[in-house]
Amino acid sequence: MSWSILVLNGPNLGRLGSREPEIYGSQTLADIGAELEAALPDEVSIELRQTDDEGELVGWLHEAVDRGTPVVLNPAAFTHYSYALRDAAALLKQAGVPLVEVHLSNPHAREAFRHTSVISGVASGVIAGFGTESYRLAIDWLLRTRS
Ligand code: DQA
Repeated sequence: MSWSILVLNGPNLGRLGSREPEIYGSQTLADIGAELEAALPDEVSIELRQTDDEGELVGWLHEAVDRGTPVVLNPAAFTHYSYALRDAAALLKQAGVPLVEVHLSNPHAREAFRHTSVISGVASGVIAGFGTESYRLAIDWLLRTRS
């Protein structure tokens, strides 16, 4: 049976490619999506989305709960302070729908305000610091654990 994974991205990630390439690399989000898609088995697809809007991201997590769709989430700066996003992520945990928090960079090796994640406590797990590979590792885990 075919199934999909929501790959959700928060603010400023639409600027990947030109945004601080020394930190985030030179690939655009579309490049990342194409690379991820190419590595997927036939029966799995990804839905790659990005928004700068907190409410829209919350809505997408609600959608994931309702559809039972696993999520790979790069919450970007919302990671560090959005209780609304955390509460939405907690709904996935409550529903038993996996959510992997990912970061291109390693926030723990950066400014102090990035050391806190309000999302991690309700995520299935966190992968950070491996660039595009962070997304791929998250998807690999979802593929291997899907029952
Ligand atoms: C990020 C890290 C966050 O601290 C930052 O605000 C981002 C991107 C990452 O992928 O490394 O926008 O989530």
